[in-house]
Amino acid sequence: MESPINKFKVWWQESQVDSPLNQKSAVCVSTIDKNGFPSGRFVDLKAVSDEGFVFCSYLDSAKGKQISDNPKSSMTCWWDHVGYQVRIIGYAEEITEIEADYFWETRTRSAQLTTSAFVQSAPLESETALAMRYQKASENFNGQPVPRPNNWGGYIIKPVVIEFLTFRKSRLHLRELYENTGVYWCKTLLQP
Ligand SMILES: Cc1cc2nc3c(=O)[nH]c(=O)nc-3n(C[C@H](O)[C@H](O)[C@H](O)COP(=O)(O)O)c2cc1C
Repeated sequence: MESPINKFKVWWQESQVDSPLNQKSAVCVSTIDKNGFPSGRFVDLKAVSDEGFVFCSYLDSAKGKQISDNPKSSMTCWWDHVGYQVRIIGYAEEITEIEADYFWETRTRSAQLTTSAFVQSAPLESETALAMRYQKASENFNGQPVPRPNNWGGYIIKPVVIEFLTFRKSRLHLRELYENTGVYWCKTLLQP
C-alpha cells in the first residue's frame, strides 16, 4: 500500500511547480480553543517526514496554548492550480530544541528580529508600535546574531487520518481516505 506521507510529499512537490502563490508553503492549521471552538490560521509548512508535518511558531501564542491543552489538531491544504485538497487530522507535539534551532537558523534576520520583538497573539498597543518594537529589536541585536527566543519553536502534527481530494470540474472528485490503524494505513475511497 502506498504511504500517504509519500503521496503527500509528491503532491507538495507538484504544488510548488508553477505555483501562482506568493506564499507557496502556506497551510491552514486548526486547533481547539478552551471553549471547544476550532481555530484555524495559516502557517508555513516547514518539513514533512514519516513522523508528520512540521510548522514553527511561538509556543506561548494562542495556538501554542491550545495545543498544550488539547493536542488534537488538523492541517488543510488547497492548491488551486493543481486541484489538490489535503485534510489531515492528528496530534500536535512540540519539536525538540535542536530541531527548533535548525529552523530558527533558516529564517531571515528580519524574521528573527520580528519574532524577538513581539509576543504573538497578545494585544498590541497601537499600529505605530509595530515599527517601534521592530526598531528596538534591531538596535538590541545591533549586528549580533539573533538568538532563538525560548518561546519560539515548532510543532509536528502526527497524522491519524489523511484525505486527498483530486478536484474535478465535473464534481466527480476523487477522494482517497487513509486511516492509521496503528500498524498500517487503511485506504478507502469516499463519494464526492
Ligand atoms: C501565509 C501566512 C503564513 C504564516 N506563517 C506563519 C507561521 O509559519 N507561523 C506562525 O506562527 N504564524 C504564521 N502566520 C500568522 C498566523 O496565521 C497567525 O496569525 C499567528 O500564528 C497567530 O495565530 P494564533 O493567535 O492563533 O496563535 C502566517 C500567516 C500567513 C497569512
